[in-house]
Amino acid sequence: MPKTPFYITTAIDYPNAKPHIGHAYEKIVADMIARWHTLQGEDVFFLTGTDEHGQKIEKAAKEAGKTPKHFVDDMSAHFQKLCTALTLSNNAFIRTTDKKHVKTAIEILKKVNSKDNVYFGTYEGLYCTGCESFKTEKELKNGLCPDHLKAPEHVKEESYFFKLSKFHQQIKQHIEQHPEFIRPESKRNEILQRLQEPLQDLSISRANFTWGIPVPKEITTTASTKKHIIYVWFDALLNYISGIAYPTKKFQKYWNNAHHLIGKDIAWFHTVIWPAILLAAEVPLPKTVYCHGFLTVDGQKMSKTLGNVVDPMAVIEKYGTDPLRYTLLRDVPAGQDGDFSEKTLIARNNSELADALGNLLQRTTVLIQKNFHGNIPVCGTLTEKEKSLEKSIPDLQELNTLMEKYQWHHVVEKVWNYINACNKYCNDTEPWKQTNDPERLATILYTLVEHLRMISILTWPVTPASAEKIACQIGQPLGKLKDAKFAKKTKGTLAQAQILFKKIEQKTVSPSLLAIAKTTGQQPTVNSFAMLNLKVARIEKVENHPNADKLYVLTLDAGERKQIVAGVKQFYKPEELLSKQIVFISNLKPAQLRGVESQGMMLAAEKEGVVRVLEAPNAKPGEQVFVEGITPAAQQITIEDFQKVTITTKDKKAAYNGKPLQTKTGTIYVDIADGAKIK
Ligand code: MSP
Repeated sequence: MPKTPFYITTAIDYPNAKPHIGHAYEKIVADMIARWHTLQGEDVFFLTGTDEHGQKIEKAAKEAGKTPKHFVDDMSAHFQKLCTALTLSNNAFIRTTDKKHVKTAIEILKKVNSKDNVYFGTYEGLYCTGCESFKTEKELKNGLCPDHLKAPEHVKEESYFFKLSKFHQQIKQHIEQHPEFIRPESKRNEILQRLQEPLQDLSISRANFTWGIPVPKEITTTASTKKHIIYVWFDALLNYISGIAYPTKKFQKYWNNAHHLIGKDIAWFHTVIWPAILLAAEVPLPKTVYCHGFLTVDGQKMSKTLGNVVDPMAVIEKYGTDPLRYTLLRDVPAGQDGDFSEKTLIARNNSELADALGNLLQRTTVLIQKNFHGNIPVCGTLTEKEKSLEKSIPDLQELNTLMEKYQWHHVVEKVWNYINACNKYCNDTEPWKQTNDPERLATILYTLVEHLRMISILTWPVTPASAEKIACQIGQPLGKLKDAKFAKKTKGTLAQAQILFKKIEQKTVSPSLLAIAKTTGQQPTVNSFAMLNLKVARIEKVENHPNADKLYVLTLDAGERKQIVAGVKQFYKPEELLSKQIVFISNLKPAQLRGVESQGMMLAAEKEGVVRVLEAPNAKPGEQVFVEGITPAAQQITIEDFQKVTITTKDKKAAYNGKPLQTKTGTIYVDIADGAKIK
């Protein structure tokens, strides 16, 4: 019976900056799924691409001094290169600026409109350009978008609306009746919970910038005073059908079994808005939306401000594709957040790839070359040892079920347990000691080669280049999943031996892996505490500034000696300052203040004319001052940058965003009333 075709998509990435390791992660997972289905003999279509319209792109292009089209052409190329570097098996790479996509977007909007699902009105609300979406007050944290840590813009403008509310009950029912529609379960519950509340209609056009697909004239009303473009999410979601040539035969073939893999942050768009658009356009819904977790880097959220955005191309250049693929697929539990660390990659490469898999191939092929002139020997009588090893071949049905449940990391684990069992068999049977018993030696080496053949199949979705190398070295074609069972009659001649994985020296994360945001024209978000590097210092000496009445020159012990100029003369006598343990900005660009160099700035709080310095009486000079969850920056900042950070006081403590400033020995104290501003 012919198998049902299988269609898998990733989210399409915003090319406002170069790809980061999170983008790579999603693509690697999708590729593993696509390859798994290919191994099952299915006709697979795997789509990925770039989401190129919208305000965020227009802004980034402007900052880079390019036209939006020029800009996305350049940036999209980085994402396409990444697909090649990751050895993705994607069948197409869609760009929302592709003519065919634009045509589909217009066609669908017209269809949605023709069924009375669009109306003209006025929108008033908060817009986060980072998310390219409107936000409710409830979604904000301290007035900021929790994902982009920026205050959304207040907008009031005329807009075309999509009657999202009309589909509320239908979508809710679909989710309730199709447990597989939203995965994992926790996400499904979260969305169902949100659907308890009324659904607002969706603004689907923008008129305050121009980079997008124009709203077709069939829809425009005379009430509109402006030219509108289609809202970027309405446009972007349609890539999933334009990418398989909606409404042609190709579309008919794949859409029946469509699966979207996306990050957890964009679940609402894919599980509520997207189905509503499809229902309105009378297109069936996809089978599954699987929401994966987010990658952090060494335990930290990735952000340009923190400077810890990992460039996947740099990782690949340094360590190769398969070690990266293996680490992310093995290390990050499906559906959960996970961490990328160079240290883990190195450790896993060395033990599970080089030592386990590489060594197994190496030992087997060297012994066959030496004892059988490179020909796979004929299998003799199988003993209990071989039979027991056969039992460690993972159960294919079980692996398939795990993959269907999107538990890919368990599949990886089971395959590598099997590889370990093969190594154990090799150690136990000691083929290098069997040269006096050619039949036994032949049986052991045959067994090893046969298992390597199965390993090449089972590892192909995870580490495809190495899997293909294994198959090639043992002189076998790469089989399908059904071939992953022990056969007694495999024949062939080995090819030239090649090293599969090199061992890597243990190192810590190198700055070379960090993405370079500079080329993208994107500036770090400046309104953030993460820009500051604050340290405790003890005041060693207080002198009058030679050229300014209101200034002191302070000599500090901050673990190292520092000199700063401070404007607190009218609030403190020298003896009151002497020996105080204060807080100062250690990464401020040095400046000449009235002819004296200042190598930082002491922090003080001010309220109604009263000024008090921040103090850390119990800390050691040089100790780091931090706010939980924020890593201090290393790069220099200017005084203007500092002025954009709001630190206030509460209960005689300094706080940022409600969280106290602290050292590892205690909080930062300031003798002033609540609500004072730190300057
Ligand atoms: N353009 C939209 C998606 C439109 S789909 C019709 C978008 N783009 S994005 O570039 O911001 O994100 C692309 C994908 O990468 C999303 O699925 C997102 O969740 C995922 N990731 C972004 N950062 C990530 C991590 N740190 N970790 C893992 N995946 C992450 O959203």
